[in-house]
Amino acid sequence: MLKILLFVVLSFFIQIFCEDIDVTLPNGKIRGLKVTPVVTNLTYYSFLGIPFAAPPIGNLRFKPPQPVENWEGTLIADNNDALCYQVGKKTEHASEDCLYLNVYTPVVPSTSSSLPVLVFIYGGTFRRGRSFPGYKSPAFLMKENVVVVTFNYRVGPFGFLSTEDEVIPGNMGLKDQQFALKWVQQNINLFGGDPRQVTLMGQSAGSASVTYQLLSPGSAGLFRAAIGNSGSALCTWAFQRNAADIAYGIAAEIDPTFERNRTSEELLNFLSNVPASAIEDTADKYNAFAPVIEVPHVGALISDLMYRNAENGSFNKVPVLMGFNSEEALMMAEKTGSWRSYVRQYDKDLRTLVDDDMYITDSDKKLLVGKEIKKIYLNDTDMFADKLGESVQYFGDNRFIRPIIKFAELIRHHVDLYFYQFSYHGPLGGNSVEIPGIGKVAHAEDQNYFWVVHDNYDSFPDTDIKTLQRYVTLLTNFVKYLNPTPIADDLLQNITWPKATENDYLYLDIDTNLSIQTNPRNFSYSKWVDIYEENAAKPFISY
Ligand SMILES: *[C@@H]1O[C@H](CO)[C@@H](O)[C@H](O)[C@H]1NC(C)=O
Ligand SMILES: *[C@@H]1O[C@H](CO)[C@@H](O)[C@H](O)[C@H]1NC(C)=O
Ligand SMILES: *[C@@H]1O[C@H](CO)[C@@H](O)[C@H](O)[C@H]1NC(C)=O
Ligand SMILES: *[C@@H]1O[C@H](CO)[C@@H](O)[C@H](O)[C@H]1NC(C)=O
Ligand SMILES: *[C@@H]1O[C@H](CO)[C@@H](O)[C@H](O)[C@H]1NC(C)=O
Ligand SMILES: *[C@@H]1O[C@H](CO)[C@@H](O)[C@H](O)[C@H]1NC(C)=O
Ligand SMILES: *[C@@H]1O[C@H](CO)[C@@H](O)[C@H](O)[C@H]1NC(C)=O
Repeated sequence: MLKILLFVVLSFFIQIFCEDIDVTLPNGKIRGLKVTPVVTNLTYYSFLGIPFAAPPIGNLRFKPPQPVENWEGTLIADNNDALCYQVGKKTEHASEDCLYLNVYTPVVPSTSSSLPVLVFIYGGTFRRGRSFPGYKSPAFLMKENVVVVTFNYRVGPFGFLSTEDEVIPGNMGLKDQQFALKWVQQNINLFGGDPRQVTLMGQSAGSASVTYQLLSPGSAGLFRAAIGNSGSALCTWAFQRNAADIAYGIAAEIDPTFERNRTSEELLNFLSNVPASAIEDTADKYNAFAPVIEVPHVGALISDLMYRNAENGSFNKVPVLMGFNSEEALMMAEKTGSWRSYVRQYDKDLRTLVDDDMYITDSDKKLLVGKEIKKIYLNDTDMFADKLGESVQYFGDNRFIRPIIKFAELIRHHVDLYFYQFSYHGPLGGNSVEIPGIGKVAHAEDQNYFWVVHDNYDSFPDTDIKTLQRYVTLLTNFVKYLNPTPIADDLLQNITWPKATENDYLYLDIDTNLSIQTNPRNFSYSKWVDIYEENAAKPFISY
């Protein structure tokens, strides 16, 4: 009932009128919708909930995605409600049967157009996330004449459990992404899209996913450009350490007699025969689940070290546009009290500033490194608990900014790289946390300047709308021309966004005004690099 009501309400807001529209795929016929959202008053066609892989249920649990079976009759592709199991968030209709995608096209679907295609991967720390709910539409992108594809991939244990051998090699979620990209190659022409002009884009864990697809030999040729918003494969949280221990831990949560000395086959057999909800119930005990480096085998998504392959050019060499928001961890300070108590751990023990990915086991050395890290942000006598802004800077650098800048720094020797910092702060960003002296833009805020998230934009300041138009234009220019500023454009203040070259780490600062800057986040980044070079175990895996 609620669902129906919600649908009626949404339809009222976003659709002036609807009309059926059919496409015949190799798998069967689908019927989409013709929509004209008020935010743009421009008609486009959407196909929601197209199955792109066989439901990964039964003995397909923990297996790579398999081809979907053909269907008879017409599949009504008018809702994208399917939701993969979300770690730590019970949702009634969440299911293992969740591998569906959505296509949005500005032209009447047919093979007579060949528009550039944007394929988007959502974030959610590899444990949560879904392709757009109804109110988040790509209407602004339709206006720019690109075809947009969004899709679900498995997250949490169903997407990332691994026995660290060939029994459950892991990375099922990343393999779903690759499978969706293959679907795009085979089908997107039927919607007026050009399979040779695909750009892969993602945010947060989706951005880390984009860089994993760059690093995956199996994804070669599936996209010709990549956009990463606020994440990379070098982020500590984007790499799962001790995956097998976690897998056995889950089994033991369900059946305490299931011991660590059982074989991987027994584990697979056991976990394949319990209800999905039993696995779901245990998963939030583990703040884990992320990609792994698979043992080398046919079908592995990645089995090399991320850092090394980015450094030595062993990846899919396509132009890349990536960057971060000016204060990624700003939301951590939303509740001052809990943030203050969280950062007290640093004051109590500076070793807690040192991330796992430095692989420093010696306790004395760890303390010295912790002191060095503190020095980037604070004076010796200062406490993190008294310096909440500096604590936010540390947290954001450690989780996001350092590994993003480093990934880009490594690959810019091999491909065209456009780097940005998103610094513009306005009400559209949806964040009201402000701390003097640090950046103003929190994680994910930039996405509100790209997708439709409101029914009406009248109440937002002109500078917000201008920034939205600029962000959409820069990114869709890149999708279309592999260059975010191909011509002088008044909207873009006639600026030319230069590539970050070997000698100059140039980047675009997206603030009220656009400007070209050098060496992103230099005040802390250059010091982090010194600390990693001197202290972290080599070869680096993440960074
Ligand atoms: C779309 O049309 C409606 C009704 O005519 C109008 O109120 C609205 O301002 C238009 N929106 C845009 C973005 O032009
Ligand atoms: C595993 O370890 C338990 C207790 O440590 C032992 O009782 C059991 O026999 C072992 N099982 C196997 C298959 O080795
Ligand atoms: C990069 O390193 C990997 C792993 O050592 C190796 O397999 C690959 O050949 C190297 N590629 C280049 C271009 O040096
Ligand atoms: C550290 O102390 C110096 C000199 O007293 C001061 O200028 C600086 O702002 C302090 N730094 C921080 C992060 O508080
Ligand atoms: C951009 O260039 C055009 C043509 O030279 C000029 O008319 C316009 O004022 C410039 N816009 C900005 C913001 O500099
Ligand atoms: C943006 O640039 C314009 C023109 O150079 C200048 O007048 C204005 O002060 C700048 N705004 C900000 C916020 O820097
Ligand atoms: C970057 O920071 C380092 C250390 O603070 C400094 O030595 C260097 O000059 C800075 N580089 C630039 C271009 O600002």
